[in-house]
Amino acid sequence: MDRMVKVWDPLVRLFHWSLVVSFAVAWLTAEAWDGLHELAGYAAAALIGFRLFWGLVGPRYARFTQFVRMPRATLGYIRSSLRGGEPRYVGHNPAGALMILGLTLVLAGTALTGWMYTLDAFWGVEWVEETHEFLANLMLILVGLHIAGVGFASLRHKENLVRSMINGLKRAPITSDIA
Ligand code: HEM
Ligand code: HEM
Repeated sequence: MDRMVKVWDPLVRLFHWSLVVSFAVAWLTAEAWDGLHELAGYAAAALIGFRLFWGLVGPRYARFTQFVRMPRATLGYIRSSLRGGEPRYVGHNPAGALMILGLTLVLAGTALTGWMYTLDAFWGVEWVEETHEFLANLMLILVGLHIAGVGFASLRHKENLVRSMINGLKRAPITSDIA
């Protein structure tokens, strides 16, 4: 058995799976059930608000300073992934971190435009509804790429990253890994 280390704290894991549920509920109720749709959308917004706070004060692997990289480093990581030579990261890898920023921003924009849609101030303003739908559809694409990225990294480094996001544990780093 490989030695395991704790990487994802309980709040990051709870945040992640709650975000997945609230997005799924908001998506499924969008056309049919306004009350629940708005509730799920606000839940997603609140979760993101919490995550921004946790990214500043949370434990090591929850912090933005631990995983958000400059564009040059992220491009370098993607290039070496394509050549099959990228290192294993114990925290989020740079491409995953970019996707996390994208998912968070687009979901926040979806919730914001959904809320605006309910305001009298934007009554009849078409771009609000159009942007809301556009961002919701963009989310679907990003989520697909996110899951593909998780699958790719899991295969490349022979570890189950989904299980890690459930139990918080990852294989202890060896010297060639980035801890
Ligand atoms: C609405 C759909 C989803 C959203 C918005 C989303 C968003 C995120 C975010 C924000 C993170 C960063 C976690 C953190 O540090 O707080 C993350 C990581 C992760 N997500 Fe998702 N996610 C979604 C769906 C999924 C699904 C369906 C899976 C499983 C198949 C998944 C697997 C993972 C894994 C394994 C990580 C950790 C990646 C790593 O090891 O670096 N996600 N996701
Ligand atoms: C953050 C996750 C959210 C997602 C994924 C999402 C997704 C969607 C989608 C796909 C539609 C289009 C439905 C159609 O074709 O008519 C829609 C409509 C709408 N959304 Fe959201 N939404 C979210 C959050 C919110 C929030 C926070 C609010 C307001 C508090 C909101 C209010 C609305 C309203 C009022 C409509 C129009 C409903 C209708 O046509 O009956 N949404 N949403």
